[in-house]
Amino acid sequence: MCGIVGYVGHRNALDVVMGGLRRLEYRGYDSGGVALPDPSTGRIAWAKKAGKLANLDGVLAETTMPETTTGIGHTRWATHGAPNDRNAHPHLSEDGRLAVVHNGIIENFAVLRAELEAAGHELLSETDTEVVVHLLSDELQRTPALDDAVRAVCQRLEGAFTLVFTDARQPDVVVGARRNSPLVVGRGDGENFLGSDVSAFIEFTREAVELGQDQVVAITRDSMTVTDFDGAPAETTSYHVDWDVSAAEKGGYDWFMLKEIDEQPQAVAETLLGRYGRSGRLQLDEMRLSDDELRDVDKIIIIACGTASYAGLVAKYAIEHWTRIPCEVELASEFRYRDPIIDRSTLVVAISQSGETMDTLMAIRYARQQRARVLSICNTNGSTIPRESDAVIYTHAGPEVAVASTKGFLSQIVACYLLGLYLAQVRGVKYGDEIDAIMAALEKLPAGIQRMLDEGEQVRKLAAELVDTRSVLFLGRHVGYPVALEGALKLKELAYLHAEGFAAGELKHGPIALIEDGIPVFVVVPPKARDQLQEKIVSNIQEIRARGALTIVLAEDGDDDVVPYADHLIRLPKVPTLLQPLVATVPLQIFACELAGLLGHDVDQPRNLAKSVTVE
Ligand code: G6P
Repeated sequence: MCGIVGYVGHRNALDVVMGGLRRLEYRGYDSGGVALPDPSTGRIAWAKKAGKLANLDGVLAETTMPETTTGIGHTRWATHGAPNDRNAHPHLSEDGRLAVVHNGIIENFAVLRAELEAAGHELLSETDTEVVVHLLSDELQRTPALDDAVRAVCQRLEGAFTLVFTDARQPDVVVGARRNSPLVVGRGDGENFLGSDVSAFIEFTREAVELGQDQVVAITRDSMTVTDFDGAPAETTSYHVDWDVSAAEKGGYDWFMLKEIDEQPQAVAETLLGRYGRSGRLQLDEMRLSDDELRDVDKIIIIACGTASYAGLVAKYAIEHWTRIPCEVELASEFRYRDPIIDRSTLVVAISQSGETMDTLMAIRYARQQRARVLSICNTNGSTIPRESDAVIYTHAGPEVAVASTKGFLSQIVACYLLGLYLAQVRGVKYGDEIDAIMAALEKLPAGIQRMLDEGEQVRKLAAELVDTRSVLFLGRHVGYPVALEGALKLKELAYLHAEGFAAGELKHGPIALIEDGIPVFVVVPPKARDQLQEKIVSNIQEIRARGALTIVLAEDGDDDVVPYADHLIRLPKVPTLLQPLVATVPLQIFACELAGLLGHDVDQPRNLAKSVTVE
């Protein structure tokens, strides 16, 4: 949520910053802006524009910007203040010497604003951010070095923030600060970078440094200094990014989402890679919880937001079935406000693709205060949630850029399954050969997912037929229920349609009233091996069809019971019940993506959304 770039080096800063912003645009696209310190004038040269970065490109084409080797930039997801030019970042000091960009919310901005206005400052925007640059301007009168002054200003701020500053009178340094919002450093040769995530600078370097909580970083061409807000030197962790710039580019696809859907066989294979050796035992590299600690667990609570929460719902069925440990799934935003019962024996599992979702982060902090152990399932190395967890399982799915999650979802389910099996192994509730059989089935999944991709044309044709529909329902049972929820969420996010997912058993308790002539209803049919469930859902299909629904049935190969009642039949490969979501979700993703494209929507950057929601 908001993308930030900072650069000091030897290249054209405007090019570096704009390149970084393009790769961070998924984080917000309400406006874009850049600031370059121009030592010849002692002022900041800047440009900003509401809307997507293409609008900023238009402004830059008409503006002469100085050739500098230092710069900062921002792409916005609006919180305080409408998404217009005036509220776009950067925000400047009145003398034009300083610029700031910000991700997060300054919670005490109203008090600070009143104080600044009383002291004679004129604030031009409605943002919470602008107060920071005026505070810095005043502080620099007393504290001349930019990093010292930034530390002093940070002491006065409440809330969540990543801030990056540039000063036209100190153009060789860029200073960043972070509390609760993300910021990473890229280390180059004679150049250094700041970014909301590594994709900001992946084109130039894969050497990155994680910053901790409440830290200030100052970068020059050749140095990086990190301290806490009091100026004491701080420890940081360096890491090598294990993907390159091509992974963060579209690679010939029209949309990142199409590419990420297609990458799912590989993503699932990567999540599994190296975790189950010839030894016949699961090994989870960053499982920092001991076997004894895992044997102590008497309750699991999975917390997550959005699509990740549906991965958690799927996982609950498997984890309880395999481990017999009670497992709850809860939206992170609800969890910490309801006084949940947790203690040292509770394992809280946080699922987050980005590792930065504020609701999830706040929930794990709360859980740890209550002494629970926290394990995170995350796709982003070096992000805040895994750093603040006792253990982590990285999904290794590669960068996910499209706002709506696809490969993130599938790889999260697989990582949860690895966790469930690992718990079963440690606690001795599954025999080695049972684990082996499930792992063998998981390892065959990439081929099953690939088949769903290869057969995608049928779904794309269906989307074309249904392009005028305004409402779509999804039904499922057991693990098919979260698949139905995810199918509906994808359609809301991408196609802006009314879409709802229901547990098929609930149909008769209300949703059946929604059935009217021609309404499309997707039904995920459990494998025939679950005969009771399969039979029940076949009855549901008959009930809705009798009332005029257009039935789109997802059923495994060889399930002929559904054939008479399916207006459209999407075949799924035969897989064990618990693995079915990993194949059944794929056509629903393709459907939503195709329909959104046909409706002329921006598939990668749907309206009002952001990928990484770093505000509560
Ligand atoms: C946003 C995205 C969703 C995502 C959710 C959780 O709402 O638009 O696609 O599922 O955040 O994100 P996380 O990074 O925590 O998995």
